[in-house]
Amino acid sequence: MPRVIEITLNGRARADAVADNVLLLDYLREIVGLTGTKTGCDGGECGACTVLIDDKPALSCLTLVSQIHGKRVETIESLGEDGQLSAVQRGFHEKLGSQCGYCTPGFIMASAGLLRKNPNPSEAEIIEALGSNICRCTGYVKIIEAVKHAAALHAQGVSP
Ligand code: FES
Ligand code: FES
Repeated sequence: MPRVIEITLNGRARADAVADNVLLLDYLREIVGLTGTKTGCDGGECGACTVLIDDKPALSCLTLVSQIHGKRVETIESLGEDGQLSAVQRGFHEKLGSQCGYCTPGFIMASAGLLRKNPNPSEAEIIEALGSNICRCTGYVKIIEAVKHAAALHAQGVSP
């Protein structure tokens, strides 16, 4: 049974009639057309589908749209301003934190959520914050370096 869901998506208010059983991941990709959020395991184990809900990382493959009425949702498409990369995007780009790139939107959104809560995380805090995200390519060392670099850029005033 569809019902109208009102959310703020990437800074813009919108309302859609959505069935109760529609997942946020499918809503973003198939209804809204934002395909930056990736489908990986589709079962809560890889983190590729991570978005921010009210500034906190969340797995969109485990979230029903009906659960997020009235909330703010941010996807990878929201990052960066005026054509400039965000601190986390720059971190992954400049420290080679991405190879095939499939996991990267999820890692970037999880990292952005971390830096909003904790702008100067320790390595242990970075590892803990990214514990729900899996990468099959990088070996994680470059990803951790990317987040440290992003924190340094953020300290210089670049938005996370
Ligand atoms: S697709 Fe959501 S955790 Fe893997
Ligand atoms: S860069 Fe390929 S899975 Fe992470």
